[in-house]
Amino acid sequence: MDEASGNSAPGAKAGQTRRNLGGLRDIVPDLEAAGELRRITKPIDIRHIATLVDQSETALLFTNVLGYDMPVISGVMNSRERLGIAMGCDFAEIEAQLRRGLANPIAPETVSADGLHDVIMEGDDVDLFALPVPIFGTLDGGPMITAGVIIAHDEEFGYNAGVYRLLVKDRNTTGIDIVTPNNLRKFAEKALARNEPLPISINIGTHPAELIASTFKAAAGVDEMALAGGMRGAPVQLAPCNTVDIPFIADSEIVLEAEILPTGWTKPEGRFGEFTRLMGGLHWNPHVRIKSIRCRAKPIYYALHMPWENIWPSGPIYESAVRRVLHEAGVQVTAINVTPGGCCHWHTVAAIKPLPGDGKNAIMAMLSVADMKHVTVVDEDIDVFDHMDVEWAVATRVQADKDVVIISGARSKPLDPSLVPTPGRIPTTAKMGIDATIPDDVPRERFERIYYAYADDIKLADALGDGDGAAKEPAPLVGNNEVTALADEIRTAICETPQYFFDLSEMFGDAGVPALSRALGQLHESGELWQDKLGRFCLTGSEFAAELG
Ligand SMILES: Cc1cc2nc3c(=O)[nH]c(=O)nc-3n(C[C@H](O)[C@H](O)[C@H](O)COP(=O)(O)O)c2cc1C
Repeated sequence: MDEASGNSAPGAKAGQTRRNLGGLRDIVPDLEAAGELRRITKPIDIRHIATLVDQSETALLFTNVLGYDMPVISGVMNSRERLGIAMGCDFAEIEAQLRRGLANPIAPETVSADGLHDVIMEGDDVDLFALPVPIFGTLDGGPMITAGVIIAHDEEFGYNAGVYRLLVKDRNTTGIDIVTPNNLRKFAEKALARNEPLPISINIGTHPAELIASTFKAAAGVDEMALAGGMRGAPVQLAPCNTVDIPFIADSEIVLEAEILPTGWTKPEGRFGEFTRLMGGLHWNPHVRIKSIRCRAKPIYYALHMPWENIWPSGPIYESAVRRVLHEAGVQVTAINVTPGGCCHWHTVAAIKPLPGDGKNAIMAMLSVADMKHVTVVDEDIDVFDHMDVEWAVATRVQADKDVVIISGARSKPLDPSLVPTPGRIPTTAKMGIDATIPDDVPRERFERIYYAYADDIKLADALGDGDGAAKEPAPLVGNNEVTALADEIRTAICETPQYFFDLSEMFGDAGVPALSRALGQLHESGELWQDKLGRFCLTGSEFAAELG
């Protein structure tokens, strides 16, 4: 398969060909076919969208939003399953796509803008209020554009893409939340120093590949659209804007051609619901002038749902960072869960095949990932996606004085609400790792699990229904002589090799369990039966017999 054609599949399962990922609207039939998207055709008040998405087990496509003439899609990336469907692979494989994109970026290709858009509002015709931009939380600063992939250019660093929220102010003005020290802020600060506006394209309704790549915190100078191309296995198509000197993503549903005005960080705005699932405070941000709105034919407005659609795309990003540092640390990792409970930023559970000391090495490596605050390391028999299993490992394999590592004064994510405010300086954070791997110096047999007899063969469905799995009629009850003969046979068997009751029931199953129990009862009564140190039946006084210890 040819990577550049998009037919080969970074992350596709062996033997499976990956389709070209396409754009946002191409995901709709796939999500619908998988039962992961429902259409709401009843008239809907735009203020009700956020709560309806929050209550829904699927993405929602609102086809009749009162007062607007375009449909609204929301919740596309709200779960592992949906992100996997969008990316054409299992969720767990998205991080491999990302790593492949980083290792083999594919530069975007330029296409003509002609014919891409049916409606173009320019100059005085620009009217942001024509777009169905919803509010999310009750404390939000107002209707907020959340799905804008924003492309900007800087002489020194080249192209940059990121996702930043834009609060709608008037028919051609928004704010832009670049309060944190990200690359776009750096570009805007440089433009401000020149007293020039910074041209940007705001691409609303792109494929999640572009959203994930833009969310990735790449160093300045890394073109996230080339990363998205590497993830897709095909170049992202860009076309030139008409009113500003910057490209837009050709298959975006809606494009806002715009400039960040050289007003500086002088306007209050917000509040914003954050990925922490909490309300952030007021921010001071620049303003953005919208110079043109371009819409595809029958555009779909993507109301990226806050905070969950903000949270999920970070999962593969941190997973790839954790995998990279564990690889560098020489730790063999078998599974990673960057947990949604930790907002897909702060918590990771990693399963490893540990060599002695690897539990601690894994903690040190994982906590080196920026933002990673609490990590738990488990053995490979623990299901990192099962909270109960992970907690069980912590309960049964951890001695807190030896297995909990706490590091003070590490770099923080300032949005962490538990940090004590430090006016005038960036606060530091404490980080914690729990080594829940089986301790090296504790006997391994203490961790032997309970396995139910015949678990592989005997199925509840057969027992409840009338399948083939009906039990065999037990052998008829036997007399004392036969029991004595069976006891002789058991004696001979365990004289050579100690056996568990289950093994004996397999060996002498034809006699039936009642007869077997009676025969063992005879050996108990005669005092001949003992147990070896694993608990198997052996003969009293034999070489296998366990001693009082
Ligand atoms: C849905 C969504 C909304 C986001 N909103 C913001 C935002 O308002 N402000 C911000 O600084 N970062 C926001 N981010 C995170 C940035 O997109 C991310 O940090 C990105 O790497 C910044 O890129 P840059 O450093 O290249 O500028 C958001 C991410 C997502 C997925």
